[in-house]
Amino acid sequence: MAFINLDARCLYTVLICGLFNCISSFNVEMKVNPPRDFQIIDLGYLGCLYLQWRPPLLLDNFKECSVEYELKYRNLGGERWKTIITTKLYYKDGFDLNKGVEAKVHTLLSECTNGSGFQSSWSEATYRTHLEGNLETKIQDMNCIYYNWQYLLCSWNLSSHVPLDTNYHLFYWYDGLDRATECDKYIIFNGKNIGCKFPYLKSSDYKNFYICVNGSSHSMSIRSSYFIFQLQNIVKPLPPDHLALTVKDSNDIDLKWDVPKGPIPARCFIYEILLSEDNSTWVV
Ligand SMILES: *[C@@H]1O[C@H](CO)[C@@H](O)[C@H](O)[C@H]1NC(C)=O
Ligand SMILES: *[C@@H]1O[C@H](CO)[C@@H](O)[C@H](O)[C@H]1NC(C)=O
Repeated sequence: MAFINLDARCLYTVLICGLFNCISSFNVEMKVNPPRDFQIIDLGYLGCLYLQWRPPLLLDNFKECSVEYELKYRNLGGERWKTIITTKLYYKDGFDLNKGVEAKVHTLLSECTNGSGFQSSWSEATYRTHLEGNLETKIQDMNCIYYNWQYLLCSWNLSSHVPLDTNYHLFYWYDGLDRATECDKYIIFNGKNIGCKFPYLKSSDYKNFYICVNGSSHSMSIRSSYFIFQLQNIVKPLPPDHLALTVKDSNDIDLKWDVPKGPIPARCFIYEILLSEDNSTWVV
């Protein structure tokens, strides 16, 4: 008798727990549909990608709710997801196209009940550019400097693992250009492109600047390299103008200079002076 009672109570508990689990997961996951047709779209902007989706089909009892989307994305293999909450149906950001991209989005509903909100399961998408050629065929040691906040110059070294007929080409894009544009003034060494002198760049600061250097050869595929930076972070100012040194007596030396010419405001500069009396020890 005692045994039977115990069994029945256990069974009852199991049933209640099972039912409860089912209700709570039904509220959180099942009822709200995820966004539809989630896609990662590459319009050829060398790393600026659009993540876009269509609204979920909503059941009648959610019609009153306010709808938001939580979007998470990262480069493949990256540690941290970037998280965005938006009411829009797209988002755009810059990605490192040397790697793939993964992203997911789900629907968030709020203000439809007095309790907590609802969320859907995730819609997921991944993207990878078609990377041909093996890693050794990439350019080496890319270096870009924005001289005096006026002239952008990039240079690179050739890979030593490519056929003799290989040449490289640089393309760039930033928000404001219609399409990815090829460098029109290469720096050439022994018939090969080893750098680019950019033209005047209009409204190009404080936004992502995207570069792709790809290559071609008749006998093998050459791996493309992608870069993203912001121009104001790679500025190298000119040295001060008109440096003049006046020796008044052995204890009194005047050093004067002018602010370097160009678009950088005088208040942005600080100067460093190196002094030596005997050419062997220098003082800062
Ligand atoms: C939430 O809704 C339930 C059922 O509609 C109602 O009984 C309850 O009073 C509400 N609570 C609040 C805090 O509005
Ligand atoms: C190099 O990249 C540009 C811009 O994306 C593209 O138009 C061109 O076809 C590419 N060239 C090669 C050889 O892959």
